Amino acid sequence: MSTDRFYFSLPPLPWPKDSLKPFLSQEAITLHYNGHHNEYIEKMNSLAQQYPELQGITLEEIVHRYTGQIYNNASQILNHNFFWKCLSPNGGVPTGNIYALIQAQFQSYENFIREFTQRAINHFGSGWIWLIYDPSTKFLMIMDGHDAYNPIIDGYIPLLTLDVWEHAFCPDYQNRKKNYAENFWQVINWNYIETIMQERIFGE
Ligand code: FE2
Repeated sequence: MSTDRFYFSLPPLPWPKDSLKPFLSQEAITLHYNGHHNEYIEKMNSLAQQYPELQGITLEEIVHRYTGQIYNNASQILNHNFFWKCLSPNGGVPTGNIYALIQAQFQSYENFIREFTQRAINHFGSGWIWLIYDPSTKFLMIMDGHDAYNPIIDGYIPLLTLDVWEHAFCPDYQNRKKNYAENFWQVINWNYIETIMQERIFGE
């Protein structure tokens, strides 16, 4: 009988595991979500037993206050929670505020896709590619995040992310990270991104 207590839990996926093909197969999502993502949650719960001060605070607070393995695990949970929400079987093209900002800053949606995809292809090692909004400049920015980096620690508002750790693409794409980064654009949940813009940037 386990006496473990659970402070952090794995959020449900927002869509069926077989619904993101051909971007990702059901097998790849199962391995990623039930394997890697859940492992970060289990590790975080074990750290919360070891360090009881983690038990009453949020993951966002943890990434701001801690470094090392506590930061890494909390940040990887936040990154994966966010990544799944950025995806949708009914991907389309951006509209509304996000479309206007992309158009203004990257000249076209196609240019934006090209720049983001190139960052993913060129990223060296494990990490995440981000589209963020910088409240201090009111500009969008594409960022490379190494390892578990999450842009909230620098005051940025994350709008979109792509997991470029090998575990994210190897099951379906082996070493073809380029194809993975290109197929990503078929499954973006632009409605979710527009909601973040409304709630966090333009207010209600
Ligand atoms: Fe991942």
